[in-house]
Amino acid sequence: MRSVSVHTPSSSYDVLIGSGILGELGARVRDLTAARRCVLVSGENVFPLYGEEALKSLRNSGLQAEALVFPSGESTKSLARYEELLNFLTEQRMTRTDCLIALGGGVTGDLTGFAAATYQRGIPYLQVPTTLLAAVDSSVGGKTAVNLPAAKNQVGAFYQPAAVLCDTDTLATLPERELRAGYAEAIKYAVLGDADLFDGLQRRSVSLDEVIETCVRMKADIVEEDEHDLGRRRLLNLGHTFGHAVESCSGYGLLHGEAVAIGMAMIANAAVRMHHMDEKSRDIMIELLRDYGLPTETDYTADELYDILLLDKKIASGKLHLIVPHSIGWCNTVAVGPEELRQWLEAAYE
Ligand code: NAD
Ligand code: GLY
Repeated sequence: MRSVSVHTPSSSYDVLIGSGILGELGARVRDLTAARRCVLVSGENVFPLYGEEALKSLRNSGLQAEALVFPSGESTKSLARYEELLNFLTEQRMTRTDCLIALGGGVTGDLTGFAAATYQRGIPYLQVPTTLLAAVDSSVGGKTAVNLPAAKNQVGAFYQPAAVLCDTDTLATLPERELRAGYAEAIKYAVLGDADLFDGLQRRSVSLDEVIETCVRMKADIVEEDEHDLGRRRLLNLGHTFGHAVESCSGYGLLHGEAVAIGMAMIANAAVRMHHMDEKSRDIMIELLRDYGLPTETDYTADELYDILLLDKKIASGKLHLIVPHSIGWCNTVAVGPEELRQWLEAAYE
């Protein structure tokens, strides 16, 4: 089993990665919390596969455990589902020392984490990621949120889990398209700061467990320095500025990871045009995304994306931080106002 420790100013916890960890869920909850009851939150695709094993592990450890299962998909990250979850916790008489478990991908993790952050002003929760995207990114670092109809992740909190248990056996049932979307975030980490990971991904010489551990180590390092996303953590938004706009234009028909892949290709193109990145680095970056079956182009126009980008509250209040790649393993932050943003966006298409 692989283990990465995360130490933020607000808390410390371990991310465990390996085969068969789901069976240890109950024992881990007993070790880490004073819980007597647990509510397991999951999705309708994931619960039939792993829900019973998770509940059994909790109950075998002497915990009372009930499950709440939501429809799969981004629409579950809503205020309505959040309220439903809080009502369920109240019906179950969950107290502040009891514990929530998020068994699923980023949607389940973000919703459960936000409920944990706010129910009775905060109760413990564990992340049990079952998608590659959640394993390499969303389950670690404590960003929790639900969406509003007009904007994604508009309501949320920074709230760290008590532990992250990543049972890599669960990734075996992940649909191919979802696996590819997870690799987009892994490629993001490689471009951000790990040329060896990039090389390993190119050669397909790194195991899935190793990919997850490497990304989690990098994320832990960044989150430890900047838990609240005021500086270095912004680097994790590589590909996300243009990617979010594309995702939003698609009405969430594109997966998050697919939109990030398009966003990374766009910012790499723009970085070349704006003389920050050489063509060779851009070409191998885009080639790797394509090699993992990811989209790198969009039919949405610069005008369509710009209209959406202008809605971003950060640009409205002055400057937005674009994450700009320079070479494989080196990116930096460039603060842009509305005019410069338009130039960067147009450069992404040239
Ligand atoms: P997801 O949670 O929607 O899961 C993808 C799909 O795979 C769903 O249909 C789900 O039911 C299914 N699934 C999950 N695990 C499975 C398994 N093991 N076997 C079979 N099917 C399985 O999507 P995601 O890509 O994991 O997460 C995307 C969400 O994460 C977005 O809402 C995004 O905003 C958020 N996110 C959050 C952070 C953060 O730091 N909190 C970071 C990145 C992304
Ligand atoms: N996924 C971006 C972050 O955690 O900050």
